[in-house]
Amino acid sequence: MITVTDLKKVYHQGKREIRALDGVTLSVPDNSVHGIIGQSGAGKSTLVRCLALLDRPTSGSVEINGVELTAVHAGELRKARRRLGVVFQQANLFDSQTIAGNVAYPLELARIPAPERDAKVAELLRLVGLGESGEAYPSQLSGGQRQRVGIARALATDPDVLLCDEPTSALDPATTAEILDLIGAIKARLGLAVLVITHEMHVVKRICDSVSLLEDGRVLESGLLVETVGRFGSRLSDALLALPPHDPTEAAGGTLIEVLYAATSDGPPKLTAAERHFGIDLPVLSGTIEHLAGTTFHRARVRVPAGTSADQVVGFLGEVGAAAALSAGEVVR
Ligand SMILES: Nc1ncnc2c1ncn2[C@@H]1O[C@H](COP(=O)(O)OP(=O)(O)O)[C@@H](O)[C@H]1O
Ligand SMILES: [Mg+2]
Repeated sequence: MITVTDLKKVYHQGKREIRALDGVTLSVPDNSVHGIIGQSGAGKSTLVRCLALLDRPTSGSVEINGVELTAVHAGELRKARRRLGVVFQQANLFDSQTIAGNVAYPLELARIPAPERDAKVAELLRLVGLGESGEAYPSQLSGGQRQRVGIARALATDPDVLLCDEPTSALDPATTAEILDLIGAIKARLGLAVLVITHEMHVVKRICDSVSLLEDGRVLESGLLVETVGRFGSRLSDALLALPPHDPTEAAGGTLIEVLYAATSDGPPKLTAAERHFGIDLPVLSGTIEHLAGTTFHRARVRVPAGTSADQVVGFLGEVGAAAALSAGEVVR
């Protein structure tokens, strides 16, 4: 479990103060993946440096399983860092060392005796699917394989927390999916608290249980993925379950509404229930379905025909457990 409380980092540029982190609070339980998404300049790299103890926050605290890393004094830093493994965008391997040598490096720093070290390296390489490649050199590996080595190295000191900083931004889509699935599998196997820093929503969709939106050093929205999606109108919800564009002329003669709900196995689909209740057709002009954190979400833009009150349809959908609203600025007559 990692707990970040009111973390602040202020940089000074001449007389100018830059609040790179302006009171970040979040926590990630064991055996879960938390995504931190934000655009360039949001403070993501600063957060990574402060969590990895590569930089000192101005104030606030970072705790791993109740141990406050921010209170550790300089002599203990190296030991404290072992509680947290970091995976970077580029694996930054030593090209003159074998794969096994690269993974062994943190164990050498920790003065683990050779036999124990070798056994640990072999186990880690198996864990990341490189059991046969220990004697190869980084130059012989693909980008995805190099990132697997980076993950094995990050896990060498048995950390409680895995911090992944844009772990797939340098990879192609197929390799991205493989690496994200590997991170997910390792989380489950080792019960780790995993933080994934990213600017890409598809990363959040694929492996995160919870997510925070970072902007200007602040957490604007945060929560479990399944709850965040249902927060109709929130930025994260809009990004997680984006509606494709529609042809506005199709709405002629009606009122557009937006509907969002999680699929359930009981009862008719929400829109069908509304169609029956009002004795109308509710054509879907555009829609999207996403499987997120084990739940299937539907979002649709629907035309309520003239002669039926769109407000009443929205009210009915709310009663049957769907979030619904008039589509903003799109009432077509
Ligand atoms: N060492 C530094 N000195 C001054 N300003 C910095 C420094 N590092 C980052 N910043 C500023 O802090 C803000 C957040 O930067 P950063 O953490 O790199 O964002 P991100 O990784 O999300 O793109 C930006 O305004 C950036 O210019
Ligand atoms: Mg950055």
